[in-house]
Formats: sequence, structure tokens, C-alpha cells
Amino acid sequence: MMEAAASPVPALPPPTHVAIIMDGNGRWAKARGLPRTAGHKRGAEAVRRAVETARELGVSYLTLYAFSAENWKRPAGEVTDLMGLLRLYLRNEVKALHKNGIRLRVIGDRSRLGDDIVALIEESEAKTAGNTALTLVLALSYGGRQEIVAAVRHLAGQVRAGAVDPDDIDETLFSANLFTADIPDPDLVIRTSGEQRISNFLLWQCAYSELVFLDVLWPDFDRADFEAAIRTFHGRDRRFGLTSG
Ligand code: FPP
Repeated sequence: MMEAAASPVPALPPPTHVAIIMDGNGRWAKARGLPRTAGHKRGAEAVRRAVETARELGVSYLTLYAFSAENWKRPAGEVTDLMGLLRLYLRNEVKALHKNGIRLRVIGDRSRLGDDIVALIEESEAKTAGNTALTLVLALSYGGRQEIVAAVRHLAGQVRAGAVDPDDIDETLFSANLFTADIPDPDLVIRTSGEQRISNFLLWQCAYSELVFLDVLWPDFDRADFEAAIRTFHGRDRRFGLTSG
């Protein structure tokens, strides 16, 4: 009898929301004697690959940690390079995203981004707003603690104005005040490069996410790595605080 070929990903539904901490661009470049910016450039290509793979695998939301609130502290030249890559990505990729039915969303503190980048973000979000194949969420100038503090400040203002009763503040209302208000929590969080930290990424939203740490450096992250992470996810026993069995 012929054996069925092993399918790359078990025939289980894909995680609805995959979030990725893209790490290791610098080390990828260093290992090749190249400047860090070369690593980021290859990282942007890995972004393109990951988005395509997520759509093909049937993932509904893909969140990518593209620039953290802490990344502003990197040397000015590197910040400029990263902003340049983001600008290029937004200018050149949105047409392809739109053609493939992908909706773009950006989360993070826009007040620190350049006016032209904010304009590109707004334009791209508006253009792709009606797409349903995949939602690509780019976390830009994003920090989980900052997001929580902003939500608290907003709710406190509403309490002061008499619009919200403190007794009505619950997890649902709190979540509705985060950047991710209408986005489901991630089922799977992947971090590349072997580091095993959350680094201020989606702190509230990761409460019950499965965490998968891969040894691959971000510029090398490919479809096989994405599928391997999903297989690991499927092998986990998600309990949400309940007992096993
Ligand atoms: C980590 O590498 C990566 C980042 C600083 C952010 C990710 C940025 C990209 C993938 C490039 C452009 C993104 C888009 C969306 C076009 P690192 O520099 O921290 O690596 P290291 O830890 O090895 O130094």
C-alpha cells in the first residue's frame, strides 16, 4: 500500500493570529562581515516571505514587531536606515498586499514617526481596509507597557469626565482601549534568533499565547521555519488555566 506523503503542516486549522518578534538581523550581518543595515534589508525580504506564507497557510492575522518603542534608542544612523526600509516597504509593497487581499494595520505610537510615514500608513490602511484574506499588523514604535499606560490614561480621563464608572472597567473595556481593540489575541508568538524574551511585545494580549523560540536568525526565516513553529503550536496543550485531560 502506498503511504500518503507527509503534509508539511498537519491538517489542523492554522492558528488564527500569529505574532512574530523578528530578531537577529544584526547577527546575520555580523556573521557575514556586513553592516547591520544589510541584515535589516534581508530582514525586509523575510517579511515579504512571511506575509506570503501566512496567507497561504490560512492564518487570519499576522503581527510583526517591526520597530519597538525601545528601538528609538539605537544609533541615529540605524534608526534612519530602519525608517528608510519601512518607508520603502509602505511605498512598494502595499500594491501587492492589496492585490492579494491583505489588509494592513499599524499599531504603535504614531506621534514619534515622521509625518510622511504617518501619511503613508494612513493611505495604506485606507486602501486595504476592505480586504479579508489576511490582516497584516505592523507594530511600529510599539511598546506593550506604553500601550497599557495610554489605555489607563484614556480611561482615567473618561472617569474624570463622568463618561465611565470605575466599576464598569473590566477586561473587555480595557482591551477596547488598546491599539489592538478589534484584533483577537495572538494564539502563537514566535521569536527568532534564539533569544527567549517577550521584550515589551503585546504584553496584555500574550496572556495565553503559545510561545515558540526558534534558533534561526530573522533574515533566514522561511516557510519551513513558519511551518515548524505551527507544528510545535499544534503539539501544545492549550489549557487557558483549566486542568489537563
Ligand atoms: C531585529 O534585529 C530586528 C529589528 C530591529 C526590527 C525588524 C526590522 C526588519 C525586519 C526590517 C524592516 C521591516 C519591515 C516591516 C520592512 P536586530 O537588529 O535586533 O538583530 P540583533 O539582535 O542580531 O542585533
